[in-house]
Amino acid sequence: MKNMNEILVLYYSRYGSTAQMAQQIACGIDSVDACAARIRTVPPVSTVCEATADTIPDEGPPYATLDDLRECSGLALGSPTRFGNMAAPLKYFIDSTSSLWLSGALAGRPAAVFTSTSSLHGGQEATLLAMMLPLLHHGMLLLGLPYSETELLTTTSGGTPYGASHTAGTDSTRPLTDEEKTLCVALGRRLATAACRLQGD
Ligand SMILES: Cc1cc2nc3c(=O)[nH]c(=O)nc-3n(C[C@H](O)[C@H](O)[C@H](O)COP(=O)(O)O)c2cc1C
Repeated sequence: MKNMNEILVLYYSRYGSTAQMAQQIACGIDSVDACAARIRTVPPVSTVCEATADTIPDEGPPYATLDDLRECSGLALGSPTRFGNMAAPLKYFIDSTSSLWLSGALAGRPAAVFTSTSSLHGGQEATLLAMMLPLLHHGMLLLGLPYSETELLTTTSGGTPYGASHTAGTDSTRPLTDEEKTLCVALGRRLATAACRLQGD
């Protein structure tokens, strides 16, 4: 019997767009034999010093721990775009991963990134590339999307070779388009397939 490869889908989402993308990426991961998505989020960063939140959120997936990263054989990392970069809550969590960096725990594992913006030219690629930087420091193997995913050529909203993306509109309520969904699923499937191959399954 094959070992089950868990792939961590770790994201922050304030208004729900990045969360919708995470669900589609998880579908792609779950579609690969012997792979399962483990979905986790991170709490908002408080403006009040020393404020603490419950370790379990009121709704949605659990908050991520370092063990989630340690135990999974791949990572999909998602964030809304904020001024052309990832959101602070996700960066705050990543900045807590020094012990994993020191031990090289994530080195050689595959990773992919995804983001949601309000506007079409609001910085999706900049955010995706910025999200790759800490993962490269961890020694992870970054995956994008190949143009054999033909939705990359036809989309008029999100979808990039650097990772999955979504254009949510000024009020952040626009649903994922069919192309954006297909590319999210393709990214999840690609990540899970790579993780299996690297594990030798
Ligand atoms: C502080 C802040 C900065 C933002 N910066 C950008 C930006 O640079 N470009 C853009 O298109 N949207 C920007 N947005 C909008 C979010 O990226 C957009 O609403 C996103 O879809 C939210 O994702 P979510 O629904 O997962 O929270 C910003 C929003 C906030 C609150």
